Amino acid sequence: MFRPIQRVSALAPSGGRILRLPAPVARRGLATVTNVPKTYGGLRDQDRIFTNLYGRHDYRLKGAQARGDWYKTKEILLKGDDWIINEVKASGLRGRGGAGFPSGLKWSFMGKSSPGRPRYLVINADEGEPGTCKDREIMRHDPHKLVEGCLVAGRAMNANAAYIYIRGEFYNEASSLQVAIDEAYKAGLIGKNACGSGYDFDVYIHRGAGAYICGEETALIESIEGKQGKPRLKPPFPANVGLFGCPTTVANVETVAVAPTICRRGGSWFAGFGRERNTGTKLFCISGHVNTPCTVEEEMSIPLKELIERHCGGVRGGWDNLLAVIPGGASTPLLPPAVCDDVLMDFDGLRDAQSGLGTAAVIVMDKSTDVVAAITRLSAFFRHESCGQCTPCREGTSWLYHMMDRFTRGQARPQEIDMLWELTKQIEGHTICALGDAAAWPIQGLIRHFRPELEQRLLAGPGTTAGGPALDQLSA
Ligand SMILES: Cc1cc2nc3c(=O)[nH]c(=O)nc-3n(C[C@H](O)[C@H](O)[C@H](O)COP(=O)(O)O)c2cc1C
Ligand code: SF4
Repeated sequence: MFRPIQRVSALAPSGGRILRLPAPVARRGLATVTNVPKTYGGLRDQDRIFTNLYGRHDYRLKGAQARGDWYKTKEILLKGDDWIINEVKASGLRGRGGAGFPSGLKWSFMGKSSPGRPRYLVINADEGEPGTCKDREIMRHDPHKLVEGCLVAGRAMNANAAYIYIRGEFYNEASSLQVAIDEAYKAGLIGKNACGSGYDFDVYIHRGAGAYICGEETALIESIEGKQGKPRLKPPFPANVGLFGCPTTVANVETVAVAPTICRRGGSWFAGFGRERNTGTKLFCISGHVNTPCTVEEEMSIPLKELIERHCGGVRGGWDNLLAVIPGGASTPLLPPAVCDDVLMDFDGLRDAQSGLGTAAVIVMDKSTDVVAAITRLSAFFRHESCGQCTPCREGTSWLYHMMDRFTRGQARPQEIDMLWELTKQIEGHTICALGDAAAWPIQGLIRHFRPELEQRLLAGPGTTAGGPALDQLSA
């Protein structure tokens, strides 16, 4: 939770904001302090990027402009692609779609020349990861943030157009977004000579049909092209051969929506939040057994416990009633209470805890939860969503589900816990896309932290050594 920082000046701006010091130090009013532990969290309103997350204000152009959107966008565009990429690099922004790849670097892969071929920015608005509900809030309540983000990110890549791939169920979100796009065209903000900058840029919405796998970037590209949403083998990477065979970058809604603010307030401002390598503000969506589930923008690296207690009214029945937390959407391994006590909500903190930040969708389970049944339900989801192209995923997700189902029903044999672990290891890293990993990780988390709960579900109770059927003989 605490990390010593070398030297800070009390009340001195750090990347455009004030470092909060522990109360006794601040009261003493010391000018310079050494080795003061820095805390994270408690984002101030003036540091929020998403100022209409809850839809309390006008989402249309007038309201968006009143909140600072589309301010000096022309100047940003005129500064050019290198300048924008450098600001995004300086901000330390890492992709908000799950993998956390550094965005400035990724956007620079498009290179400068692609003779005779158009270039595309594709916005991933599929938001299929169970527990995740952040991009939809941007699109329905703050759609101009995304439209302006498309223009700025598109300029960084010298793209000709952006395709926003939005999941089919997001009807209201697609409608608000279309209103914002129409308004932006009408005001000359996008389209020919966008914002009067001399740069031409179009924005299109493409509605998906609601398949989780279509959130995977190459499956998404296939889907826009009118084919089945099945991931492509890489290489070639989309930056070389992407949409319609042209250079393409796929980026998450939140990633792109923060780009204009980063350019306006400066990369160093954004980098002033969170820990090194884990910078910025971040949308967290917290659901499950908390008193007030919500989506909230907070400082990266906020402790999990503070996030839940500050914004969600705490765990139902109190912190001691906590059983487990899935910290980053359904595919990230769950954490037991001992880890939840002081884990930091960022890429490195959760990686060190053998889990992941993923989409920052926090699913809280209190002690009333049947954790084996909960993970079995996730297994059913991944099995259903496998596109079936590769054998370890197609067959493995089915086996995982059936074995988990046997535990849920109390029909599993003792040796099946290790077989289950082995099966996840045979799937992990052996598939075309990361859906195979996503199916394996929740079960690995369960075995790592909740083995006794699995042992309680064995056919003849814990300690049984009787041989069970071979894996390929397991009943459905
Ligand atoms: C099965 C699967 C589903 C995914 N679903 C989404 C999604 O719904 N939204 C998203 O932004 N990224 C999703 N991703 C990650 C994308 O492939 C891609 O990494 C991401 O859109 C890149 O954006 P970023 O660099 O801004 O994070 C998914 C990946 C996999 C393997
Ligand atoms: S890992 Fe699964 S979802 Fe991904 S390509 Fe292979 S079969 Fe399809």
